[in-house]
Amino acid sequence: MHHRPAVEVRDLFYAYPDGTPALRGVDLVVEEGESVGIVGPNGAGKSTLLLHLNGILSGRGEVKIFGLPVARENLREIRRRVGLVFQDPDDQLFSPTVFDDVAFGPLNMGLSREEVAEAVDRALREVGLKGLERKSAFHLSFGQKKRAAIATVLSMNPDLLVLDEPSSNLDPRARRELSELLQGMRITKIVVTHDLPFVFENCERVLVMDQGRVVADGDVFSILSDEELLKAHGLELPYGFYPLHRERSGRNTEGNRKPDGASPQWGKGDKA
Ligand SMILES: Nc1ncnc2c1ncn2[C@@H]1O[C@H](COP(=O)(O)OP(=O)(O)OP(=O)(O)O)[C@@H](O)[C@H]1O
Ligand SMILES: [Mg+2]
Repeated sequence: MHHRPAVEVRDLFYAYPDGTPALRGVDLVVEEGESVGIVGPNGAGKSTLLLHLNGILSGRGEVKIFGLPVARENLREIRRRVGLVFQDPDDQLFSPTVFDDVAFGPLNMGLSREEVAEAVDRALREVGLKGLERKSAFHLSFGQKKRAAIATVLSMNPDLLVLDEPSSNLDPRARRELSELLQGMRITKIVVTHDLPFVFENCERVLVMDQGRVVADGDVFSILSDEELLKAHGLELPYGFYPLHRERSGRNTEGNRKPDGASPQWGKGDKA
């Protein structure tokens, strides 16, 4: 089969209408099936980059998704295939009920009533919100909103899942369940987060962004164990968290799960 990356971004520049330069020459290729973390300090341009992946923003440069240029004539197809979860769930939820929000995408894709109900049911189960379908998103807790926002894209069965800060405000159990859910999904994933252990659990590759550019790109072990690099870009591992220094070959990327023994170490790190 003809090989096409899931995402190709070439020399992308974007400035907001007020003149703020947010992207200053971003290059990025994500292969199909990869799970890539994007980290970097506040204001680095991470969210701005993600908003280019389904054409919400459009800068100067080239963005292709599964070989399709992100342009008006392809937006319908691209938005069907790319599930983008915004940083702020209030940007994602606009319907009277949780059910309607999660059903919106599948309805738009022209699925039958039963198929829509099935897709909503599955997505709400996956994020642990079953039973809340009749509630207004307005009355959910922040963490529940975050989960509902994730469900609105899971219900569409995307080929590329793009998540902006998926674990923020989740309680530890919901965070772990989300992590397990993502690890079990074999589709291409891009995860922007400040939660470095979450990156460690979910991504085999990490990009560091700063000041509108990709400043580092490598496997998760080498990036997260590069103290100088992390420090230079405002990144810090949580207290007591030490990623193991491991050979890339020691890692099993099947379904993005790590083999036994390649889990991150909490504590003094003396086992590493
Ligand atoms: N709507 C906007 N109008 C003007 N400037 C903006 C707008 N949104 C973001 N910016 C600016 O663009 C730059 C990149 O912002 P962006 O939201 O992409 O950063 P980020 O890496 O996602 O940061 P964070 O970690 O805080 O989410 C910042 O300088 C920010 O102030
Ligand atoms: Mg952001």
